[in-house]
Amino acid sequence: MLCLGFECTAHTFGAAIVDSSGRFLSSEKASFISTGKGMVPREVLTFHKAHASAVLDRTLAAAGPDVVEKIDAIAISQGPGIGTLLHEGLQTACTLADTLDVPLFGINHAVAHLEIGRKECSAKDPVYLYVSGGNTQLLIREDGDGQGEKNRASRYHIVGETLDIGIGNLLDKSARLLGLGFPGGPPLYELSLKGKNFVELPYTIKGMDVCFSGLYTAFKNRFEHVDPKKDAVVPADLAFSLQEVAFDMVCEAAERALSHFEKDELVLAGGVACSKVLQEKTKIMCQERGAKMLVPENKFLTDNGAMIAWNGILALQGGQKPLGPDAKAKPDWRADDVAVVWP
Ligand code: ATP
Ligand code: FE2
Repeated sequence: MLCLGFECTAHTFGAAIVDSSGRFLSSEKASFISTGKGMVPREVLTFHKAHASAVLDRTLAAAGPDVVEKIDAIAISQGPGIGTLLHEGLQTACTLADTLDVPLFGINHAVAHLEIGRKECSAKDPVYLYVSGGNTQLLIREDGDGQGEKNRASRYHIVGETLDIGIGNLLDKSARLLGLGFPGGPPLYELSLKGKNFVELPYTIKGMDVCFSGLYTAFKNRFEHVDPKKDAVVPADLAFSLQEVAFDMVCEAAERALSHFEKDELVLAGGVACSKVLQEKTKIMCQERGAKMLVPENKFLTDNGAMIAWNGILALQGGQKPLGPDAKAKPDWRADDVAVVWP
C-alpha cells in the first residue's frame, strides 16, 4: 500500500510517498525563509501556492513511473497551524483524493512529529520531547481499552508544556532581534559558538511546565542595553546564554518526566531537536540515569511530508475514518485530542 502525504501547516510545503512497510519512495519540500522578517502568513501562503505543484511533481517523479496509479491513500496535515495555509493544503489534498478516488486522512502535525520519531528510532515506550517553533511539549502514549466498555481510544497525553511561547519561537524572535533572519535556530547557534561569557537570564520551570516569554524579555532588554564601549558582553554571549538557559529548562523537565513515569527512552521531535546543544544536553542527562536518548535524522525533525505520509499509513491500517467533503482545517488541534487508532 502507498500513501502520499502533504505537510502544509507553516513554513514548509512538503510531499512524500511511503509504503506500508515504512520505506520512503520519495520526499520533497520547499521551505519559506526570510532575511529580515519572521513568517508573515500572507507571504507564506503565496510561497505555498507558488511551490506546491512543483513539489508534488518532484515527489511523483522521484517515486518512479506510474506511481500515481498505485497510490492507495492521501494524508494531509489538518492542524495545528496557520489557518490560511491549512485551508489551502486541505483543498489541494481533497481535489487530488477525489481525482484519484482514494481516501483522504486528516493528520495531526504534532502526532506526526512523534510517530516519525518512534518509527525511525524504533522506540518502544518513550517520553517524547517535542520542541518546535509553535510547540514545546512532553508527551507519553496512554493506551486506551479500544473496543472496551468505555471504548476509550489510545491518546498522547501531554504531561508538560510551555505555558506561553514555543522554544523555537523564542529562538526565532531572538535571532530576528539580532538581525539573523528566519529560521533563527541555526544562525543563533553559529553565533553562540563565539560566546565566551555566561549572562544570567531567567530560568522558569514548574514541574514539567516551562515559560519562555520572560526569558525573551530579559534577553531583549540586555541586548538593547549593550554598550560596546563599556560592556564586555557581546551578542554572541547572549546567544550562548539564551541557548544554555532554554535548553537546560526543557532538559530538566524531560528528566522529571522520565523519572515520574519510570521510562527509559527519550525521543526528541520537532525542528528545534536539530540543535546540537540540546542533543548533547539530553544525551548526557539520559546517560546519567541509564536511559537512551533517541533522535531521528534532521530531515525527519523539521517539518516534512514524510511524517504525514507515514502517519497516513498508520491511519489507514488502524481503520481511521477518512475525511468527508465538508472537512475543515483545525488550526488549534492539540495532540491529546487525537484518537490514536493504530498500535
Ligand atoms: P510546529 O507546528 O511543530 O510547531 P514548526 O512550524 O515550528 O512546527 P518545525 O520545522 O517543526 O516547524 O520547527 C521549526 C523550528 O525549528 C524553528 O523555530 C527553527 O528555528 C528551529 N530549528 C531548525 N533547525 C534548528 C537547529 N539546527 N537548531 C535549533 N533550532 C532549529
Ligand atoms: Fe513542526
